[in-house]
Amino acid sequence: MKIFLDTADLGEIRRAADAGLIDGITTNPSLVAKVAGKRDPKEIYLAICETVDGPVSLEVVGVDKDTMLTEGRKLAAIHKNAVVKVPLTEAGLKACRALVAEGIRVNVTLCFSVSQALLAAKAGATYISPFVGRIDDISGDGMELIEQIRQVYDNYGFKTEILAASLRHPLHVVQAMMAGSDCCTIPPSVLWQLSKHPLTDKGLETFLKDWETLGARI
Ligand code: E4P
Repeated sequence: MKIFLDTADLGEIRRAADAGLIDGITTNPSLVAKVAGKRDPKEIYLAICETVDGPVSLEVVGVDKDTMLTEGRKLAAIHKNAVVKVPLTEAGLKACRALVAEGIRVNVTLCFSVSQALLAAKAGATYISPFVGRIDDISGDGMELIEQIRQVYDNYGFKTEILAASLRHPLHVVQAMMAGSDCCTIPPSVLWQLSKHPLTDKGLETFLKDWETLGARI
């Protein structure tokens, strides 16, 4: 399963990329607004694309098809790693179809149902982003959506990759893997949480203490 980092924070992106742990990045307008300050978002996008050797999702903010197309082409031109993110609306699906026809990879975002995921696949989406955590937030079962999309895509041989999004904790990541998601996107905090286990810390402490009794060096 591919791991994408869900952030526009370059410091966090460098930290994870240096560790060789991530396959790509997803951003959204809210994440960019958090870090941009006075900077032009396009500069941030270019820096992210130059830092990570993998797909970097950059989202359009237009709501009609033509504006999405204009913005999508500009975003795709920033760097070869750019993937254009469009919302799962009628206009977004039409823009997806047109951008894909031009050879541009598209991530269809804000997916909350299997029927939406079906249409994204029909529109040729490279990735579909179902928002697990936001469904959980309203007492739904976000992970069930990942399982259902997996089954439908497999039933009909759709090539669109499932990119489990809005994942909020390590268990979400494990469940997304078990459900057969192709990719997951996670905040930096969740990436580092994945490595933690109290028995690892305890075991290491004991090993180091025991080694000290030898007074030896490696
Ligand atoms: C996905 O591409 C989105 O950026 C993200 O996963 C949304 O997560 P949130 O629901 O925690 O904001």
